[in-house]
Amino acid sequence: MYQQDPAAAAWLGAIGVVDATELPGLDDLHEPEGAIEEAQRLAAECFQADRTFFLVGGSTVGNLAAIGGSAARDEIIIMQRNVHKSAIHAAMLSGSSVVFVAPEYEEKAGLYGGVRAETIAEALQTYPQAKAVFVTSPNYYGMAVRELERIAAHAHDAGVPLIVDEAHGAHFGFHSRFPRSALQLGADAVIQSTHKMLPAMTMGAMLHLQGDRINIERVQRLLRMLQSSSPSYPIMASLDWARWKLHTGQSALFDDSLTVIDQFVKDLESNECYGVRILDDPMKLLLYDRTKKLTGYVLQAELTKQGIYTEMADERYVVLACSCATDKQDLEHLGSALREIHQGHPSEKKENGDIFSNNKYILPPSISPPISLDYFARRSETKRTITVNVEQSAGMVSAEMVIPYPPGIPLLFPGETITQEAADQLARLRDAGASVQGIKDRAVRTIEVVQSP
Ligand SMILES: Cc1ncc(COP(=O)(O)O)c(C=O)c1O
Repeated sequence: MYQQDPAAAAWLGAIGVVDATELPGLDDLHEPEGAIEEAQRLAAECFQADRTFFLVGGSTVGNLAAIGGSAARDEIIIMQRNVHKSAIHAAMLSGSSVVFVAPEYEEKAGLYGGVRAETIAEALQTYPQAKAVFVTSPNYYGMAVRELERIAAHAHDAGVPLIVDEAHGAHFGFHSRFPRSALQLGADAVIQSTHKMLPAMTMGAMLHLQGDRINIERVQRLLRMLQSSSPSYPIMASLDWARWKLHTGQSALFDDSLTVIDQFVKDLESNECYGVRILDDPMKLLLYDRTKKLTGYVLQAELTKQGIYTEMADERYVVLACSCATDKQDLEHLGSALREIHQGHPSEKKENGDIFSNNKYILPPSISPPISLDYFARRSETKRTITVNVEQSAGMVSAEMVIPYPPGIPLLFPGETITQEAADQLARLRDAGASVQGIKDRAVRTIEVVQSP
């Protein structure tokens, strides 16, 4: 392919110029004392952290290191239930036990958001031996955990660190229109996918630490184990470049994009067919069909046909991620694509502004008992499993992780007792044709459970 396609040769060649390795003068990510040390120090200054680590394996590796560095085997970590799978994988690899805390359902948006501070406080009181609190803010939809500052205070009163997965919020705190960043609100460890909302290359991310509640040596040792011994210089260079853009541009970096986004939102206000909703992050636009004729999935497919690639879709919304590079032309293209789609799917106006989403399902108790997900449990400790019909599974212990997607909030974890509500919910979701991840039976007729002794 390389030989047949001169364009591929040209762009690969351009990247190749910076695709070096640990040659003299190029420093070493795992023992930085030169250019990489300086780049990480400047990043810490820019994001107001005490220490910043560059990650070349995305926020995934940051979550693995921050969680693994805070809770060891059988130690408890309090975790918001709607977390990215990398946080669950961290608990699986570290062998820590997770106390899941249910998020709040926001009726107006029709979406699950963040957790309440009082729920975290209650979890900390119930499990005073917990070693850390882990939450995600913002989520895919741009919804921030509104009580993050209070959550940090509760964690600190209990003497434990607050770890925040801010994968979607690397730009937070850099404009008066954005929510404050997790570091500003008191988090001890913050993981950001710089490649998502700032102009870094895919897999480029950062782990920021502040204060002394996180064991830096342990986190650093884990990063050395988890990250390649040949980290990508193009990715590291792009992290430094993204930091430089932000450091030198500050809020002005986003002004032009916000102006065109505001205009787009204003224009859609009078549109009888399509509406747009912004939750906490003005860079995330939730587009929906006011007439409820098109689901988010269909609207997303139609936009793709028009060359517009969106962040994600669910039954109601298509989520659009804007960036500091979003310009007038992009949003004019979006506007004209929506007009085209409307012409292809003429629909009557049925209602205005009502947000419907059936992302809501009954979650198990707001604070779960500690659940061990230990992936490396000794074979003798590995439970035997049997397969039962979903309808007959209530009261049994799930051996599978069951994740309706979207919204991607696990309904069941391995080791969790299946409530009647959860079994009913799973059957209902299956009958509604929802996509369910993590379960072996793709038709969701059966589920694996732990065989009772
Ligand atoms: C909330 C959240 N955390 C972490 C991750 C993992 O990020 P990355 O793809 O940078 O590894 C994702 C990925 O989408 C995510 O949505």
